[in-house]
Amino acid sequence: MFEFLKHRPKSAIPTFAPLGTDIHCHLLPGVDDGSKSNEESLACLQVMRDAGFENVICTPHYQYPRFPNEETDILNRFDTLKIDIAAAKQKNIPNLTGVAGEYRVDTGFPARIENNRFLLVGGKYVLVEFSLHQQVIGLDQVMFDLQMKNYEIILAHPERYPYYSGTSSKLQHLKDMGINFQVNILSLSGFYGESPKRKAFEMIEKGWVEFMGTDMHNTLYAQALIDATHDRKIIKLMEKHKFLNSHVNDPEPLKTKKL
Ligand SMILES: [Fe+2]
Repeated sequence: MFEFLKHRPKSAIPTFAPLGTDIHCHLLPGVDDGSKSNEESLACLQVMRDAGFENVICTPHYQYPRFPNEETDILNRFDTLKIDIAAAKQKNIPNLTGVAGEYRVDTGFPARIENNRFLLVGGKYVLVEFSLHQQVIGLDQVMFDLQMKNYEIILAHPERYPYYSGTSSKLQHLKDMGINFQVNILSLSGFYGESPKRKAFEMIEKGWVEFMGTDMHNTLYAQALIDATHDRKIIKLMEKHKFLNSHVNDPEPLKTKKL
């Protein structure tokens, strides 16, 4: 008789309210492998608000040659998205408080550092990602060069790189260099598999993780985020650990840093 309840879709609960701001998502439509339309972005944003996020910073991929995004174009598209979303008069969505980037450390990265071509999270942080397949050659030098330009660094989803274990000495070295880590919320629920899940919990327990992010791409991720808000282990972890997400909120669209 209660069979229908088994299949009734769950709603998100505000498990991630303590974070306040999501610092990593791909909801600027049509610029990378994330959202494909304003409608898809809106659907994801509604789930994120229900999950507890008040603010969202969009971080499209910059990766040569797959996503050859350019900062001025991204800023313009972000302004357009905000206008379109305001016109949709949708209640219960987070504020779009900034646009930055998830910068792949690839062959074009040193020139980017040289020319200060970054949109920053919170006006301060460069969000970087590595290849999922192979370690970056000369990584220390690249990170050092960024720091010499006074950028703070956040490494996106360290738990997802298969060549680093959860307690890798290479990751320890990055922590020793002062690099911040951002774990994906969906890693905690096993969305990317068992190994990233185990490593995500290990890194947080070790005190290595300053930030959490949704890395939201589309409605498949949104459904997984709904499920994550009901996960007891994740609820407990959110109650126990403090993260710095709310410190990066910035009311104005972010500008390319000029030094
Ligand atoms: Fe991402």
